[in-house]
Formats: sequence, C-alpha cells, structure tokens
Amino acid sequence: MKFFIDTANLAQIKEAHELGILDGVTTNPSLMAKEGIKGQEAIFNHYRAICDLVDGDISAEVVSTDFDGIIEEGKKLAAIHPNIIVKVPMIKDGVKAIKWFTDNGIATNCTLVFSAGQAILCAKAGAKYVSPFIGRVDDSGWDGVQLVQQIANIYAVQGFKTQVLAASIRNANHIIRCAEAGADVCTCPLDSILALLKHPLTDIGLAKFLEDAKKL
Ligand code: G3P
Repeated sequence: MKFFIDTANLAQIKEAHELGILDGVTTNPSLMAKEGIKGQEAIFNHYRAICDLVDGDISAEVVSTDFDGIIEEGKKLAAIHPNIIVKVPMIKDGVKAIKWFTDNGIATNCTLVFSAGQAILCAKAGAKYVSPFIGRVDDSGWDGVQLVQQIANIYAVQGFKTQVLAASIRNANHIIRCAEAGADVCTCPLDSILALLKHPLTDIGLAKFLEDAKKL
C-alpha cells in the first residue's frame, strides 16, 4: 500500500517525506484554504512547491462543476508538473470529464466517493484513483473501511485498473484496516501516520535497553 499525505502544509509534507515512506500528496480546496493560499498564481506556485518536495503523484482539485470548466481548469493544473493528478468530484459532469481526461492522457483522482456504485462509474471512466472518504462515511453511521473492501473486491473481480485511494483518514486504525481491506493507497494526515509509530511497550522496552546499555 502506498502512503500519501493529505495536506497542503509544506512543513508537514517535508516531515513525512523525511521519514522516507511518502509516495505522494493529496490536497483539496479546504486544505489549500487552511494554508491561506489565495489567487490562481499563488495556488499554482504552491502546487509547484509541493511537486519540488515530493517525487510522486500530487492531487490538485478542480473547483469547476460544469464539463467545460472542469476540462479547462484540469488542463491548466496538469500543465503545472507531470506528477499532477487532476482531482475531479463525483458528479455527472465530473464523470464525463474524467473520461475526457483519460482519452487525452491526463491522470485523474475521482473524489467525494461514498458508494460502490460511484466507484464503478469512475473506474469505467478510467480514473487513475478513486477516493472513498472513510472518516466521513463513519461520521454518517456506516463503516468506511467496509466500503474500501467492497470497492477493492469489485475492482479485483472486474479487473478494473483504477487504484483505491482511501481518503478522509482520521486515525492509525483506519490506516491499518484500509491496508487489510485492500486499499492501494492511503492518504493520511501527518498525525495519523506518526501514530503508527507509537506503542507503550516500545517506549518501556527501549528505556530498559538504554538503562542496561550503561552497564556494558
Ligand atoms: O482529501 C479529502 C479527504 O481526505 C478529506 O478528509 O477529514 O476532511 O473528511 P476529511
């Protein structure tokens, strides 16, 4: 399973990258706004900065919702860097746009996916990634990881090439369960990645080893 970081914060991207386990980055308009980035030039420069930090797929989301607008915006985003993946919402014009991007050699990530039916549509349209939102599914009283498993099973049975990118990850257990469920990629906040490191018995064991090492 690949690890992406789900943030537009350059310091956090750098920290995850320095850990040596980072395969890519996902962003969305909310994450970009959180960094205080305003205006097209600043947004494009920020994507350039992310691409300079990480040599992997970088998802950049369109904010248009009509076919022509999505195509125009997606072409501009894709032209920023060869690693940019155009992130398109799961709406009717979004599906049409994903098919257009697929036919024109532009890779896409279909976002805001909450059902297996939506995941089938984005695979049929040729998206490189499908992004089921695990945490938000959990918030609505369902099991987000079960959705990842269902999509992974359908893709395996049908031979779809679209990769399952588990998004809206809220904790370390989500990451572990998504790995078990067959996610190809998990995009995670930095604190969920770092939480994977932690175990009290590791800390207790290390303290004892270091204490005993003084006797050597
Ligand atoms: O990148 C989209 C997704 O990961 C959003 O997560 O926590 O806002 O549901 P969240």
